[in-house]
Amino acid sequence: MKETIQVFDYAERIGKALPRGILLNTGGDGFNSMVIGWGHLGLVWSLPTFVVYVREHRYTKARLDKTREFTVSVPLGDPDPEITRICGTLSGRDTDKAAAARLTLEAPRTIGTPGIAEYPLTLECRVLYAQAQVLADIPEEIRRRMYPQDLDSSHPLANRDAHTAYIGQIVDAYIIRPEETFSAGDASVTLRAMAPADYDQVWGLWMSCKNMGFNTTDDSREGVEKLLRRNPGTSFVALSGDRVIGVILAGQDGRRGYIYHACTAEAWRGRGIASRLVQRALDALKQAGIHKVALLVFQYNEAGNAFWEKMGFTRREDVAYRNRLLSALVRIDT
Ligand SMILES: CC(C)(COP(=O)(O)OP(=O)(O)OC[C@H]1O[C@@H](n2cnc3c(N)ncnc32)[C@H](O)[C@@H]1OP(=O)(O)O)[C@@H](O)C(=O)NCCC(=O)NCCS
Ligand SMILES: Cc1cc2nc3c(=O)[nH]c(=O)nc-3n(C[C@H](O)[C@H](O)[C@H](O)COP(=O)(O)O)c2cc1C
Repeated sequence: MKETIQVFDYAERIGKALPRGILLNTGGDGFNSMVIGWGHLGLVWSLPTFVVYVREHRYTKARLDKTREFTVSVPLGDPDPEITRICGTLSGRDTDKAAAARLTLEAPRTIGTPGIAEYPLTLECRVLYAQAQVLADIPEEIRRRMYPQDLDSSHPLANRDAHTAYIGQIVDAYIIRPEETFSAGDASVTLRAMAPADYDQVWGLWMSCKNMGFNTTDDSREGVEKLLRRNPGTSFVALSGDRVIGVILAGQDGRRGYIYHACTAEAWRGRGIASRLVQRALDALKQAGIHKVALLVFQYNEAGNAFWEKMGFTRREDVAYRNRLLSALVRIDT
């Protein structure tokens, strides 16, 4: 499943991922992926664009000149060091890097170049313009540092050649969300990351479940979208066909993970749906570098407390939960 995004909402995430290495993929004759550390998101000719800088002798450059399109793949967590090594030091001229790095190629939506499931934030771009840099016009200090001329052009880490800037118009932008299907009794249930478009069904499901606490701000469409945008890929829904029958919201603040509003539709309970949702959320939080996850349950929600106990969430008797409102919230207790 591909969740369409407003690409500028992800500017900070892309900017922070770049120096650690993201992927520039080319298609046409086969598939090739190279690591890039330079690039920028912006507007050119009033069009959303991503600009990449590719040295003259890269295999990628020859491919870009032919196909005039590329995808950019950005990890949502830490980059995989093995993917960086393979795609950032080997050339597609001699190595099938997709096979060597075990990349899962994802069919594109708008252009012909695939994306990569392991690096789910995907920009599909068509080259509008390409401009070779003139080494002599580059400030001397940068020229010395970036183009020291000590490695031959055929070397994968060649540093002689100038870069060509490819201005790619972003024609599609989305996050690839893996799906998982399992049998729940005699029915088939699909789990996938929650998308903003699920909101109406999720709200209906929440309102049908007893003993939960909501408010009309944080749990409004805007509030939930804000959580999903800040925490891509950590909240999940369970589906029977197109119908949402289970949900878990999860997010993190860089230190602690939090779970909110996990529930399963009454008719679907007792089939392991909520426990799978919890596992997916915990896996995603762990992947994001989180070490501890917390949640709140009303004391009187016996079933909910029994469920969380089963899920390994211990009850803390030594702390008092305190909060202070920064704006007035209207509560809805179901
Ligand atoms: C609590 C809730 C989410 C469980 O959903 P579910 O899909 O039925 O849960 P699962 O089938 O995955 O159950 C997982 C485990 O929890 C246990 N469990 C689930 N509901 C339970 C209950 N009412 N009492 C005791 N144990 C329960 C199950 O027995 C199972 O353990 P097992 O694997 O050893 O059999 C669901 O009942 C619900 O939506 N309740 C209303 C909302 C709510 O209270 N949410 C949690 C607090 S915010
Ligand atoms: C972190 C990192 C960032 C890189 N950034 C760029 C870049 O922005 N432009 C570039 O031309 N090469 C860059 N490289 C080098 C290429 O990824 C590398 O030369 C690759 O092997 C080229 O593959 P290809 O020959 O298949 O195109 C980078 C490498 C690493 C490890």
